[in-house]
Amino acid sequence: MQFNDNLDPEDWQQIAAYLAEFTAEEIQELAQSIDSSVWQPVPDSVKQLLADESVPLDHSDLEQVVADYRAHIRPYRNGNTHPRFFGWVQGTGTIPALLADIAISTMNSNSGGRDHGAIYVERQVMNWCKQIFGFPVEAGGLMTSGTSASTHLGLQVAIFRKLGIEQKYKGFFNVCKPLRCYTSVEGHSSIIKAIQISGIGSDNLVVIDTDSKHRILIPQLEQRIEEDLANGYTPFMVIGNAGTVNTGSFDDFAAIRQICDRYDCWMHVDGAFGAWLKIAEEKYAGLTRGMELTDSLAFDFHKLMYVQYDCGGLLVNDGAFQQQVFSIRPNYLAPHGQALAGGEPWFCDYGMELSRSFRALKVWFTFKAYGLNKLGQAVTENCRLAKKLAQLIKQSTYFKLAKKPVSNIVTFKMQNKLNGHKLGPQRNDELCEQLVTRLQLSGEAVFSLTRQGKYRVIRASITNHRTRDDDIEFVVDRLEQLATELLQ
Ligand SMILES: Cc1ncc(COP(=O)(O)O)c(C=O)c1O
Repeated sequence: MQFNDNLDPEDWQQIAAYLAEFTAEEIQELAQSIDSSVWQPVPDSVKQLLADESVPLDHSDLEQVVADYRAHIRPYRNGNTHPRFFGWVQGTGTIPALLADIAISTMNSNSGGRDHGAIYVERQVMNWCKQIFGFPVEAGGLMTSGTSASTHLGLQVAIFRKLGIEQKYKGFFNVCKPLRCYTSVEGHSSIIKAIQISGIGSDNLVVIDTDSKHRILIPQLEQRIEEDLANGYTPFMVIGNAGTVNTGSFDDFAAIRQICDRYDCWMHVDGAFGAWLKIAEEKYAGLTRGMELTDSLAFDFHKLMYVQYDCGGLLVNDGAFQQQVFSIRPNYLAPHGQALAGGEPWFCDYGMELSRSFRALKVWFTFKAYGLNKLGQAVTENCRLAKKLAQLIKQSTYFKLAKKPVSNIVTFKMQNKLNGHKLGPQRNDELCEQLVTRLQLSGEAVFSLTRQGKYRVIRASITNHRTRDDDIEFVVDRLEQLATELLQ
């Protein structure tokens, strides 16, 4: 496959045919991989090859580049396209978004701003999200790389809302009363990271205990805010959780709203995956009640909406203020006229990035091809399968549920007593790690691990539209067999 000196193909017809062939092969690979190993390790030889290869100075035939990809990269997928991948919180990817990815690359639009199709698609997708999550039309809506980025942006808006927009120029490091943010012990590490890198310091992230349903303890939250006020701190933000990473639980959002109103704090919700329970069956959608009362909401399309990485979103109730926080337009970016330089408002004025990909098209294809009803059914199904996994674990001789699941996350550990012997935390931790490692290495299933109290626990996040009942039955059987072997 030859390219001319301007880097374009010599023959566009030939490249079109080649792309069609390549896409067909990729889809066939995907279909086959669903029935094969979830994961396999990258061999040392491949790691070495990739580490040693120096920057290419001379051209290679494109077919050779593709051959290298086939041999050294494609076999070593992350595994999240497979129905028995339950690790961390990773979505599976959709075929409509795959088509969109091709279109995104061919259009190569910069969604930072100006007047072109990508801008109107992102506005449309974000308007859909405002409708879904109960935000007003004038809210700010921005596609992001994911919830970490969205939470970081929400935090920036919250800081300037509390300290005044003029601090954007003066800086806030000379503010004498340190800012304080509050979330529960269940809060995700991306919250800690956002607080740390914004210069507030995670010593000023006040971590509140949870009740028996893993929801932030409202009386303790109020008490800590009162104490902080008395000690000269500036409470400015409370971060609620819609779907916590360890237990999949949801805070009482209406109660958080009341506290935020009482103490003039910004309310943000981390809804990375859990926000999408809003479109599931009522018994799950009910968990998100009150989420619409938040000032800002972070959520991902690359988790429970199954869209390819990376694809997240941020909604900010006061879109005009969000724009004040992030807007900066040097002369070369000044809007003018009705032509390409028009198209106000520009997305670059609502977040960090000036150059931005056309991620919205992946969501647009996915939402239009399936419709929200079907996607909501897939979310409900993930929660149903989590419940099924929990029921099978409950019947097991070897395992014990660590927490009763509320959504799509299940955690379990070894029984406290096995074969008449007490199993301490150390033995439990060893066994859980061995089981998870063995299943990953055999390519049969991917679970991940976390810690709950004294115990390391096995964790399943069913964020996977391909998982079926027999996948759940299979993994529980295999866990039982492996536990029998390990305990002999
Ligand atoms: C509850 C929660 N919040 C935030 C994040 C971070 O999201 P992202 O990986 O899209 O940045 C995750 C990721 O798993 C999560 O589960």
